Amino acid sequence: MAKIVYRYGDGTRRVVERDTPASVMRAAVEAGVPGIVGECGGQTMCATCHVYVDDGYVDRLPAVGDDEEEMLECTAAPRDAARSRLSCQIVVGAGLDEIEVDVPDTQI
Ligand code: FES
Repeated sequence: MAKIVYRYGDGTRRVVERDTPASVMRAAVEAGVPGIVGECGGQTMCATCHVYVDDGYVDRLPAVGDDEEEMLECTAAPRDAARSRLSCQIVVGAGLDEIEVDVPDTQI
């Protein structure tokens, strides 16, 4: 079982638990979690799945790839050099069993 916590600026949270591996973007879209658009479907072409990863998980993620790096320059909300990632590039349920992310106020 993998668990993803989506946190919002107003202090609210949404928790999604999954039995099968999925990206943090896909899990959000399938569960109707607000604030994660995922316009390109996870092809690293839109940056509408931007999240700020909780400090406790940043070092547990794979390095930012070239395509992700390029799209992180296009986020609607300001990029955080240490914490910004594209949630379509973070997979839970395959080595990483939980993660907490802050959802930006805007994706577009
Ligand atoms: Fe488009 Fe992540 S869904 S870059």
